[in-house]
Amino acid sequence: MSGRLKWLLRFLWPGSLAGRLVLLLVATLALAQVLLVLVLQNEHDAVVAGIVRGQALSQTVTLTRLIESMPQEQADRLAGAFTTRGTCAWVSADPPDPHEMTSTEEGLARLLSRRLHGVGNGAPAVHIDTDGLWNRRCPERSSEDFPWLRRGTGGPSQPLRPGLGVVALSVPLSGQRWLHVDAVVGLPGIWSRPIVLSFLISALAVSLVTVACVRFQTRSLRSLADASERFGRGESVPPLDVRGPSEVAAATQAFNTMQQRLSQFVRDRMRLLAAISHDLRTPLTTLRLKAEFVDDAEVRNDIVATIDELVAICEATLAFTRAEATSEETRTVDIEDLCADVVEEFASVGADARMADPMAARVLLPCRPVAMRRALRNLVDNAVRYGRRAEVTVGQTGAGAVSIRVEDEGPGLPEDRFEEAFQPFVRLEPSRSTETGGIGLGLAIARSIVKAHGGELTLANRPGGGLCAEIVLPTAERS
Ligand SMILES: Nc1ncnc2c1ncn2[C@@H]1O[C@H](COP(=O)(O)OP(=O)(O)OP(=O)(O)O)[C@@H](O)[C@H]1O
Ligand SMILES: [Mg+2]
Repeated sequence: MSGRLKWLLRFLWPGSLAGRLVLLLVATLALAQVLLVLVLQNEHDAVVAGIVRGQALSQTVTLTRLIESMPQEQADRLAGAFTTRGTCAWVSADPPDPHEMTSTEEGLARLLSRRLHGVGNGAPAVHIDTDGLWNRRCPERSSEDFPWLRRGTGGPSQPLRPGLGVVALSVPLSGQRWLHVDAVVGLPGIWSRPIVLSFLISALAVSLVTVACVRFQTRSLRSLADASERFGRGESVPPLDVRGPSEVAAATQAFNTMQQRLSQFVRDRMRLLAAISHDLRTPLTTLRLKAEFVDDAEVRNDIVATIDELVAICEATLAFTRAEATSEETRTVDIEDLCADVVEEFASVGADARMADPMAARVLLPCRPVAMRRALRNLVDNAVRYGRRAEVTVGQTGAGAVSIRVEDEGPGLPEDRFEEAFQPFVRLEPSRSTETGGIGLGLAIARSIVKAHGGELTLANRPGGGLCAEIVLPTAERS
């Protein structure tokens, strides 16, 4: 399929469920309408015959009887009197044009003959002409008398408007004369007004009902989508009401179960981690006490330093799990204020941390503020510790996203080690002394918090030197 065709299909195929249903239903209606018209077209002659039987036939019978019972001179005037809008009657010596009658026409001719009860002078002829050429035979009146029937102007043989046909009945009279009656009949057609109108009205009714129904029925689907989005961002979502059509109710129920299981799973893992870290502390303390009895001072110091490091790891892990275990509520906060608070914490203890120029508009972000502050604190801590100073910039990146950049003036990091830096307990510092840093959890924790908010944390080296850690978060609203 060519790219343009694909684009066209995508353009025509609406995105919403209501749009798709409306399109499908209207297309089906149109198809049904066309099929109906095609069937009617096939039944054309029969339909026309039905109309003729009702009007033209009885007129012709009456007229024949009258003419045959009157003097010949009055025949023309009498026929003229029967000429009305859409019907033309006249008497002439000319027989009808030779024409092979169809079975419908023959049926009509037989019916006419029966109704005449022997009046007239032989078998009548019937010609159903659906080409719609009016006035081909009628000499009495010109087409000017029937402007509503015509399609064009001028000429004795005028094409009729679409949807009209002519039925020509010819009855032989006594005295070598013929009574001709031409009647205009409406033909069923695709573009006849009632058909188009009925299609438009049904399409409108179907569209309105579909849109209303779908909107009503998918309300619960929309709240499900909204809840999934919030859950994906790491927000705590209360269980959803199970309502709506059975399929949607089943999906909602499945979402509730999934959310509950996932939360339980995360809680269990955190509890396990906390238990391990907690239980390791006692043997480590014992080990440290025993290490003091090692005679060799150098070996002893090494062992004690390693044990201290292990204790620090346990403490950090415990602190992290404790923070995770307290299920914090999601609140909407001004993200710039939150950053300024963290920067202020560092500045107040003499660190070189500052905010860049304030943004033009406030950005409100639904998040778990304590966790978010923790992530930011880890980044500012790294910038101050390894890059001398931290500068925090809040900005908007495109629609619906906010970025928080923490930049420093340090040595930066080799690009191929960025991913490594995010690994828990990995320190890229050449010296592993606890004096210069922590235990390698800061970036791992920050990234896990940012991801839980549906965002991304990335590292990049600044062109002028130094590292830039950037958090990009989806926003909810702006003011
Ligand atoms: N701004 C930075 N400039 C240079 N190197 C950095 C920077 N931030 C992090 N790193 C390197 O990445 C490593 C991992 O950082 P991370 O914050 O995860 O752990 P940490 O700072 O060593 O310990 P913790 O944060 O747990 O106290 C650091 O040890 C450091 O080598
Ligand atoms: Mg750190």
